[in-house]
Amino acid sequence: MLTIALSKGRILEQTLPLLKKAGLEIAAEELNSRKLILDTNLDDVKVVIIRGTDVPVFVQHGAADMGITGKDVLLEHGANGLFEMLDLGIAKCRLMVAAKSENYQQGNILKVATKYVKSAKKYFEQKGQPCEIIKLYGAMELAPVVGLSHCIVDIVDTGNTLKANGLIPLDHIEDISSRLVINSASFKTKNAAIKSWVNAIEKNL
Ligand code: ATP
Ligand code: PRP
Repeated sequence: MLTIALSKGRILEQTLPLLKKAGLEIAAEELNSRKLILDTNLDDVKVVIIRGTDVPVFVQHGAADMGITGKDVLLEHGANGLFEMLDLGIAKCRLMVAAKSENYQQGNILKVATKYVKSAKKYFEQKGQPCEIIKLYGAMELAPVVGLSHCIVDIVDTGNTLKANGLIPLDHIEDISSRLVINSASFKTKNAAIKSWVNAIEKNL
């Protein structure tokens, strides 16, 4: 039996066609049900659909053999106990610093609002910029507008959200896309099955 953890939301929409091309399908009744463990067209493959941030946790602990989530999430998780096997090239965006203007820095310590605490800390540490991270869980764009922070570190795609809130994209931290990750123990114990799924997905990217 193989268990695959999928991120719900925007990644799921783009994941299902990739899996279908590789030979794995989840019936609409399963997807629309309230079940958390879903059957697939294959008796030996089950799928769990969970929050993207929970995917590396399930895979790290072996509750799922494989998973699909954003690189932004993996950078925060640290990716212990799992291998990043494939860049799926879906849900592409950029992790960026944004602020009201280029001269966003006032005083010695930069206040940075973000849900990407690790990535933001690492980025400003590497620049030698002392900073105070203010952890938020959403609506980061609001923080500089209401004076909660000097800048934000967040996902940018079209740039529309920044623009709508009077912010400009400044420094590029990382290119983001969704990745296929594998539990390191499963990679040994279920090697043949996992390799054949990785190949089937890669072939159809
Ligand atoms: P959760 O619901 O778990 O809190 P979320 O609200 O960030 O997470 P989504 O907005 O569906 O969930 O984003 C999931 C992933 O898609 C992110 O981790 C990132 O990799 C990518 N992503 C986020 N925003 C965008 C965007 N605007 N364009 C493209 N990809 C994005
Ligand atoms: C993401 C991200 C930005 C926005 C960027 O939010 O947090 O706010 O997308 O995309 P853009 O550059 O194309 O405007 P999302 O739409 O996922 O909403 P959420 O943060 O509430 O999940």
